[in-house]
Amino acid sequence: MSTNANRHDLWAPETRANPLPVYARMRQEAPLVRLVDPYFKDPVWVATRYKDAVDLLRDPRFTKDMRKLPDGTPSKQLRAGSMQVLNQHMLMSDPPDHTRLRTLVSKAFTPRRVEELRPRITAIAHRLLDAVQAHGSMDLLDAFAFPLPVTVIAEMLGVPLEDQDQFREWTNAIVHPPIDGNFEPIQKAGQRFIQYFQGLLERRRAEPRDDLLTDLMSVEEKGDRLSPVELLSMLFLLLVAGHETTVNLIGNGIWALLKHPEQLERLRARPALIDSAVEEMLRYRGPVETTTQRWAAQDVEFRGQVIRAGEAVVASLLAANHDPEQFPEPERFDITREPNRHIAFGFGIHFCLGAPLARLEGTIAITLLLERLPRLRLSVDPAGLRWRDGILMHGLQRLPVAF
Ligand code: HEM
Repeated sequence: MSTNANRHDLWAPETRANPLPVYARMRQEAPLVRLVDPYFKDPVWVATRYKDAVDLLRDPRFTKDMRKLPDGTPSKQLRAGSMQVLNQHMLMSDPPDHTRLRTLVSKAFTPRRVEELRPRITAIAHRLLDAVQAHGSMDLLDAFAFPLPVTVIAEMLGVPLEDQDQFREWTNAIVHPPIDGNFEPIQKAGQRFIQYFQGLLERRRAEPRDDLLTDLMSVEEKGDRLSPVELLSMLFLLLVAGHETTVNLIGNGIWALLKHPEQLERLRARPALIDSAVEEMLRYRGPVETTTQRWAAQDVEFRGQVIRAGEAVVASLLAANHDPEQFPEPERFDITREPNRHIAFGFGIHFCLGAPLARLEGTIAITLLLERLPRLRLSVDPAGLRWRDGILMHGLQRLPVAF
């Protein structure tokens, strides 16, 4: 079935404001359906049931390596030029390349190593709140949820923080697709990234430091485990992943709490519930709405349908995390939900490498916000809040609050 019928229009503005009714219909009527992405003009199969999402994400017949796709595949053409150079990373590769690339950095992201960052993340969060506390109001995303994870990942990698405004502009161009189908800004942003990293690597070669950039550079110099292009791609992936995700965990999480004052009160009364509250925030409105694309390496039969070689598939994590077969009363936001086996961080070999870091940042950020701003509340009509375009990320454009 090929349809972009209104009933399944994931990209419509009213769907962006609340995608859940459309996903509920899709899980019922068309759990695996071929839609046309209006930005990329590319057909994409979308899976919405929990079990299908999990099965799809662990199915080796779908590839993440575009080199395996037939020439002329639209997805391949879109990622030409600078975006091809930046796409030789673990999230765009299959084993054994995937295993090799992920192993190179996995040690830096284990729960134990990440826990060592707790004092530093706490200090950054306090500093950001110090800067706004006296104002009595802020855009929570701009003033807090965005700069916190960006500062953390920039420090881990060893990227100068004063350059963060540029990254923000470039990652924005890359992650949020152009409405008018003009891909030049994406290509330009890609080129800027490459030039920037090349300059930074040169400086670091002259003056090594104790950071991930220096570590990866020395692996690359040894020659056999990381090529120069893979190094650029790795830096790009870590920086973008650290930019566009945790911001929405904090933003969507606070939005959910303010929308459910009784849950907010429970959390204020028992701050130890924060870990389970963060899991529920990830399930209820996770930052990543659909996974990145996989492609059928050859014709693949899946759930009774044939996905042709080169066609793209994604799993909707938001839809899967609201599947009533898996989560009783999925629309209920319950910070003590148990069990809560959500897949907001994906599933299978590409499960989010940064999950321990994102969880730690989320728990620290939300705990401190509630501790330091006891009168935290929305400063606009909730109906006026706007969500961002596109179906990859799920996050608010702004979150104006008073305290
Ligand atoms: C709440 C915040 C975050 C969420 C919800 C999230 C979600 C995800 C998801 C769903 C995937 C899999 C995508 C797919 O299969 O198509 C993924 C992969 C990945 N994430 Fe995250 N992410 C978050 C934060 C981070 C952070 C802070 C980092 C670290 C800098 C990070 C690094 C990565 C990497 C490197 C991958 C690729 C893993 C692989 O291909 O093996 N993420 N993330």
